[in-house]
Amino acid sequence: MNLDTLRSDGYVSVAYPASLRPIVAQAMKSWQDFCTLPDEKKRLLSGGDRLRDFGYMRRQDVGQRADNKELFHAKLSRLDELGERAALLGDKRAVEFMYATDKFLLATVPLIREFAIGAEEHYGLRGFAKEVEQSQQHWTFRFLHYMGGDMLAHPHADRGGFTFHMYEDAPGGEYLDFAKQWRAWPVDHERTIIFPSMGLQFRSQGKLKALCHRVVSTPQTFTAGRYSMVAFIDFAMGVRFDDSRNRLQDFDPGFNYRMSQDEFEGLFIPAESQTV
Ligand SMILES: [Fe+2]
Repeated sequence: MNLDTLRSDGYVSVAYPASLRPIVAQAMKSWQDFCTLPDEKKRLLSGGDRLRDFGYMRRQDVGQRADNKELFHAKLSRLDELGERAALLGDKRAVEFMYATDKFLLATVPLIREFAIGAEEHYGLRGFAKEVEQSQQHWTFRFLHYMGGDMLAHPHADRGGFTFHMYEDAPGGEYLDFAKQWRAWPVDHERTIIFPSMGLQFRSQGKLKALCHRVVSTPQTFTAGRYSMVAFIDFAMGVRFDDSRNRLQDFDPGFNYRMSQDEFEGLFIPAESQTV
């Protein structure tokens, strides 16, 4: 894993470990099968709403920020509960999805650990790997199904620690490079990428930048939609991005690339005072 590219390109490109890829592919296949269930069944695996943030979610926002997708957040801390609900739901598509997800979450651990240890050594982030490991129960694995349309994900930086893009069934993922040019990113059967989010920019004192990215539609995904899978890896930092005063969507793409660390830190508040 070449971690120099975090500074030069904004992300690390990782050759898919041969043992991991089939497990990822199986988890994705089981998500696609799960998506074919009737809505009322899928909602039985919902954590409730955006605030509780786990399980199945359906988003249909309209207007300028139109959004039409279904997604599923899996985290180790919730898997037992979700597995029990899947069993009650009475359809093997739900049970198999939870089974494949369980296997998949555990299979990603070595790669995430390798990145965390590498980033700690390379960028002098003392204690970082341990912090990442200690929050393993709360890493969020997002399965996504965009239903199609013009812009599938508007430009944004992620709020968590770092982000791992593991699967995309069609092109369209782009990142904003440090010269503020949009570029397609290399995610395919052979390679995956990891990039810093807001948390890692904070933690590295600005040595690493939260990478701005978006998903644009292609003629194919405009009508057929798009499936993808992403992991948001959090770690305890004692602070959180202040959602109540700042909406990430309101910032210009790449706003954080040249921001001073003081100004950047001003966007965060102590974790315990976060109001949700
Ligand atoms: Fe994102």
